[in-house]
Amino acid sequence: MKHLLKMLDLSSEEIIDILNLADQLKYELKHEIPHTHLLKGKTLGMIFQKSSTRTRVSFETGMYQLGGYPLFLSSNDLQIGRGEPVQDTARVLSRYLDGIMIRTFEQKEVEDLAEYGSIPIINGLTDFCHPCQVLADLMTIREFKGSFDGLKMCFIGDGNNMANSLIVGCLKVGMTVSIACPDDYQPPKEILDFAAEYGDKFSMTNSPAQAAKGADVLITDVWASMGQEGEAEKRKKAFAGYQINDELMIQANEDAMVLHCLPAHREEEITEKVFEAHAKEIFEEAENRLHAQKAVMVKLMA
Ligand code: CP
Ligand code: NVA
Repeated sequence: MKHLLKMLDLSSEEIIDILNLADQLKYELKHEIPHTHLLKGKTLGMIFQKSSTRTRVSFETGMYQLGGYPLFLSSNDLQIGRGEPVQDTARVLSRYLDGIMIRTFEQKEVEDLAEYGSIPIINGLTDFCHPCQVLADLMTIREFKGSFDGLKMCFIGDGNNMANSLIVGCLKVGMTVSIACPDDYQPPKEILDFAAEYGDKFSMTNSPAQAAKGADVLITDVWASMGQEGEAEKRKKAFAGYQINDELMIQANEDAMVLHCLPAHREEEITEKVFEAHAKEIFEEAENRLHAQKAVMVKLMA
């Protein structure tokens, strides 16, 4: 593994390896077993073309805990924001840094960084996918459920970056996956083609109730992602009914867990009541961003 660009690039073994290391790093942190030697003296550049709370703070703190040094690089300040090509930025930054995390719009930009640069690139979210988040989600699912065996994950809502990475990640670790989305907001063909290889382990419908039947893990995300703010009103209409609420929870297994990558829009994709009832899982999931990303950085940069 040279980069983390998208879940599609990882083998099932690589995913499990990252999760095992993440569990170990979490244990070490809780028990004050130092691991600052792991990335001592290494530097991570973090390019942000979109807002972030969790990704920024967990990468920055994680790098510090591993003995390295994180640099926050807002695209407002970089020449990239004034049109310097990503191909050039990649070749320059490769000469200063040991790794780059980037959050941007187009997946191609992340792939170009990897192609032109000579250091590990980590995707911190694009319009296409959010692999760091899904590694944390998988870590949380295994933590609460003990294993992935026989589990069903159901995603309700937009066929967006989160849906894409969840479909791929959950299928790769052996889970059954169902997704409920409006016809006009299905995941892209590349993801559906991948999922089709898993036969009846994958299903897609526009009925949230049908998708949620027998689910062990229910996950949703905002109706309008970053960059889609202008479509918010149109999307509110399209996604009405695509909500995790008490009525939907009845369809799922009794001990079903609920995850949300955050930020959440209460009373849109999830009710306040369900959100608070599952706050334990949701905030453990947020914490696990730290541990999962530390594992990714160690795998790529140590
Ligand atoms: N879930 C997530 O990526 O959060 P941020 O946008 O705050 O980084
Ligand atoms: N789908 C959301 C995820 C935020 C972490 C977005 O892209 O804005």
